[in-house]
Amino acid sequence: MYTASAPGKLILCGEHAVVYGQPAIALPLADVRASASISAAAAGSGMAIEAPDLGAAWMVSTLRDDPLSEVALATLRYLNVPSADLTITLQSAIPIAGGLGSGAAIATALVRSLAAYLGHTLAADVVSDLVYTSEQRYHGTPSGIDNSVIAYEQAIWFERRVHEVDGVPERVIEPVHIARPFNLIIGDTGVRSATRLPVGEVRRRWQDAPHTYNCLFAKVGALVRQVRETLASGDIAALGPLLNHNQCLLEQIGVSSPELEHLIAAAREAGASGAKLSGGGWGGVMLALTTPATHASVITALQQAGAVRVLQTVVHGISGV
Ligand code: PMV
Repeated sequence: MYTASAPGKLILCGEHAVVYGQPAIALPLADVRASASISAAAAGSGMAIEAPDLGAAWMVSTLRDDPLSEVALATLRYLNVPSADLTITLQSAIPIAGGLGSGAAIATALVRSLAAYLGHTLAADVVSDLVYTSEQRYHGTPSGIDNSVIAYEQAIWFERRVHEVDGVPERVIEPVHIARPFNLIIGDTGVRSATRLPVGEVRRRWQDAPHTYNCLFAKVGALVRQVRETLASGDIAALGPLLNHNQCLLEQIGVSSPELEHLIAAAREAGASGAKLSGGGWGGVMLALTTPATHASVITALQQAGAVRVLQTVVHGISGV
């Protein structure tokens, strides 16, 4: 039995604008993980995928279009393995469609475990590229930030620029220097929202009003640059207002929701110095920046405001992507 796992992720700032070439900063959530285990199956039986938590099981050969079937087949192709007889069992503690990267984490665990079973260890950029294919199936125009932060498993600065002349996308992935650790609390609205829905709506609005939306995206990009400087200088007090400003811009972009804003207001009232939605929006999760003095009261406030799940993470700097 070969098992591999992958973390969930949190976008600290820059979601949505990142799809249009602006930078974003994402963090791995090491304690909330998805895992995949591989066991051998009878010769000639083919590849099966089982997800007992979802009550789902299928043969890859009969559901080749499924994003996870595709990622399994792409991994075999990459490793030059024509076929395999095995069962892949998937498990995940990451809420689905909640802004925490569950789809990319499951696919990453699958690629890692399948490669290990076949005797290979794949580099993070290779895993990330294989998973990107399945991300495209889930939501059409992914920036690639989810598969990148999950594959590298450290805080990243991410940019996806499309080359002006030949239209070829180019990714910039850099480590983020975090001079001082800080605490984030994550509140889950319990409202599930598939990323492709707000992403598709933002695209329609951008097509209708390109100037307005390009201005909003540029403002997000400028504040993400400020967040990077703030993290590098260790001036965590300056981070809160920047997160609040990002939330304001996300509201203008049109991806917030009453449930998110209810939790964000509760966190701020309880002393969080900054709070915003994280991920695709219209549901899913929000994050709040706390200090030791406000940490417990923010957790209680989110629980009382109806968060279905409250998680916490300490963000450290690790060097070298
Ligand atoms: O909803 P999530 O956690 O998958 O986050 C998506 C982030 C977006 O910027 C909204 C889309 C993307 O592809 O970057």
